[in-house]
Amino acid sequence: QKAKMIIEKDFKVAEIDKRIYGSFIEHLGRAVYGGVYEPGHPSADEQGFRKDVIGLIKELKVPIIRYPGGNFVSGYNWEDGVGPIAERPKRLELAWRTTETNEIGTNEFMDFAKKVDAEVNMAVNLGTRGIDAARNLVEYCNHPGGSYYSDLRISHGYKEPHKIKTWCLGNEMDGPWQIGHKTAAEYGRIAQEAAKVMKWVDPSIELVACGSSNRSMPTFAEWEATVLDYTYDHVEFISLHQYYGNYDNDIGNYLALSLEMDDFIRSVISIADYIKAKKRSKKSIYLSFDEWNVWYHSKEADKRIEPWTVAPPQLEDIYNFEDALLVGCMLITMLKHADRLKIACLAQLVNVIAPIMTEANGPAWKQTIFYPYMHTSIYGRGVALNPIISSPKYDSKDFTDIPFLESTAVYNEETEELTIFAVNRDQEEGLQLECDIRNFDGYKVVEHIVLENPDLKRTNSVQAQPVAPHSKGDASVENGKVSALLPKLSWNVIRLG
Ligand code: AHR
Repeated sequence: QKAKMIIEKDFKVAEIDKRIYGSFIEHLGRAVYGGVYEPGHPSADEQGFRKDVIGLIKELKVPIIRYPGGNFVSGYNWEDGVGPIAERPKRLELAWRTTETNEIGTNEFMDFAKKVDAEVNMAVNLGTRGIDAARNLVEYCNHPGGSYYSDLRISHGYKEPHKIKTWCLGNEMDGPWQIGHKTAAEYGRIAQEAAKVMKWVDPSIELVACGSSNRSMPTFAEWEATVLDYTYDHVEFISLHQYYGNYDNDIGNYLALSLEMDDFIRSVISIADYIKAKKRSKKSIYLSFDEWNVWYHSKEADKRIEPWTVAPPQLEDIYNFEDALLVGCMLITMLKHADRLKIACLAQLVNVIAPIMTEANGPAWKQTIFYPYMHTSIYGRGVALNPIISSPKYDSKDFTDIPFLESTAVYNEETEELTIFAVNRDQEEGLQLECDIRNFDGYKVVEHIVLENPDLKRTNSVQAQPVAPHSKGDASVENGKVSALLPKLSWNVIRLG
């Protein structure tokens, strides 16, 4: 089959905010303890952070990490995690029914983030706590000194403020599973007041209000509208969360789930713009897709976790090749909305539904989903373009007119590199791509990376990495036209320069 694309330098969606390649580390399972932090591990640094994990995170070029939750944050007292480690309390962690030792807290995590060259997207607890704890945390982190909480930070050994720019106003407050679950109006009011005083402490911060926990929530849409009605003038972002799974083992349908993600994004933009219209506001609200991924492989195993243990293995999905294809489709989908979607966090980063896994006292290794995430994060910087695409289509159980070709292009004005990201959803045959790159005169193929595998269920492990990309794609350029064979069910990165 054949698909066509036209890429034009001037058809711009927007400059990509690098935060779109963010990730997430929650105090959950072995993400922190036994993940990024394992004192005694052969690669641990002086603070107990694993240098091998730091290396892999740097390979991903993660620009921002959401922390410390997730559901965890809705019961978290940030004060438990600062000051002398020996004096920190052990707490029952009610979100995931474990014991939290508080060995790692705000300052240690900020040190870790520096080591991986990432900013932190800090979440405040609007479940059990509220305005006071939130504004105190901003003061502790961002105020230079001369006040109670900023001086407390200095007394803990951190003279310089952390200058955290991006903050989340709670987590999934629409979900009955959330500690301190609220109605939209209850949450809207507390988020509004928390946002107001957090910005009084530091007017330079940017705030994310909680949208729905997923598109299927019964309160979806009404929730966003109500929350934004309260918070519109005080926040910059509304959040989206979505996880997918191939529950029916139906690959055609599974790979089409990114179309649902696209619809979700469009809906939230519409709701935000409805409130903008209602308020006659000049300001637009941006989107933070601060939890997204595949999550379903580990759900059964997690029912058997012994409660109140420290850092048990939770949410340890082992991803297969087809999951990497969907992750690729989701990344392309988000790039298409680079004008309104400015933050996104792959949930999560280490061990918990993660691209990076660690063995206790052993090596760290790359899951299948590591690759599309890494490729977009490295090569997807610059301007998101809006290519014109025509592709043959198919229907599946829940979708119609699914294009076999899922694709977009990014132009990096600094390096003058043009990159095409493409997934071929066709299960039967390769797709012959013809791409007109009309005003990229003299451009040649730098590399055509392909992730393919004859077995959709193939996974990586600490012993073997059978799902890994190669650079033997056949893309070539002739007379301003790229032609490339995209193998059946494959992820492709065509780099041109
Ligand atoms: O990422 C795992 C969990 O998924 C988060 O804690 C929560 O916000 C979401 O439901």
